[in-house]
Amino acid sequence: MPTVLVTGASRGLGLELTRQYAEAPEGWRILACVRAPSSATALQALADSAAGRISIHALDVEDHSSIERLGSELAGESIDVLINSAGTMGRRSFAEEGKQFGRFGDSDYEDWAQVFRLNVMGPMKMAETFVEHVARSDQKKLITLSSILGSIEKNTIGGLYAYRASKSAVNAIMRSMAIDLARSHGIIATALHPGWVRTDMGGPNADIDAVESAAGMRRVIAGLDASKAGRYWVYDGSELPW
Ligand SMILES: NC(=O)c1ccc[n+]([C@@H]2O[C@H](COP(=O)([O-])OP(=O)(O)OC[C@H]3O[C@@H](n4cnc5c(N)ncnc54)[C@H](OP(=O)(O)O)[C@@H]3O)[C@@H](O)[C@H]2O)c1
Repeated sequence: MPTVLVTGASRGLGLELTRQYAEAPEGWRILACVRAPSSATALQALADSAAGRISIHALDVEDHSSIERLGSELAGESIDVLINSAGTMGRRSFAEEGKQFGRFGDSDYEDWAQVFRLNVMGPMKMAETFVEHVARSDQKKLITLSSILGSIEKNTIGGLYAYRASKSAVNAIMRSMAIDLARSHGIIATALHPGWVRTDMGGPNADIDAVESAAGMRRVIAGLDASKAGRYWVYDGSELPW
């Protein structure tokens, strides 16, 4: 039975990925990771109806001791696919503020630090902690949900400084890991843009719903092989320029 670990499984794309893996005919076991298990009621309801396939784990991706604790708790386990879905735009929200969000002259540097702790150092620390868990699996896939807003070439409208910078940075990290971990452990690492999705982060005016995004991402992940590592995939199977 293949195993997938998903961070940020309380809501949004992490929750929908968990739901779809739980229903998939391949029979996945899902390690669903959330900051606050006791208040993750939608995930708990999903787990209750998933015949033991979903286990819920406490994980604050900004807290390295929390990541290490989970790494030890899962020592000896195989993780076929690790998906870093937890992410943030900071305390304020693009969904509410639109183009006014994250503009030049409006930087809150404490917010920058939190965005980088979660979006950049989080996936790095997850990889450094779980590399052996992934390496001992059959599929050996390490995925981080990036964003088209991290593409430097696609940036034609400016703004959104902290979030864009965090996703460009995590793209650089995933590219390096694709090279290093392929050599050292046979791991396939890549960045994946979920589309503009109607979640708390994406807001109600986004292009697609979480069901379509997660279904597309699962197809892309299933099709990954060594030749597709270290690239910048979109949920629909197309590829982005860095
Ligand atoms: N939605 C879009 O349009 C879009 C577009 C491009 C990229 N993305 C990326 O896709 C990923 C998922 O986005 P989403 O739309 O699902 O966002 P979302 O609906 O805002 O959900 C964010 C998730 O991250 C979790 N989280 C926040 N801080 C955390 C922490 N310190 N430790 C662990 N989990 C934490 C939240 O948990 P709590 O419930 O505990 O707060 C929640 O589960 C993100 O990386 C995002 O940048 C989204």
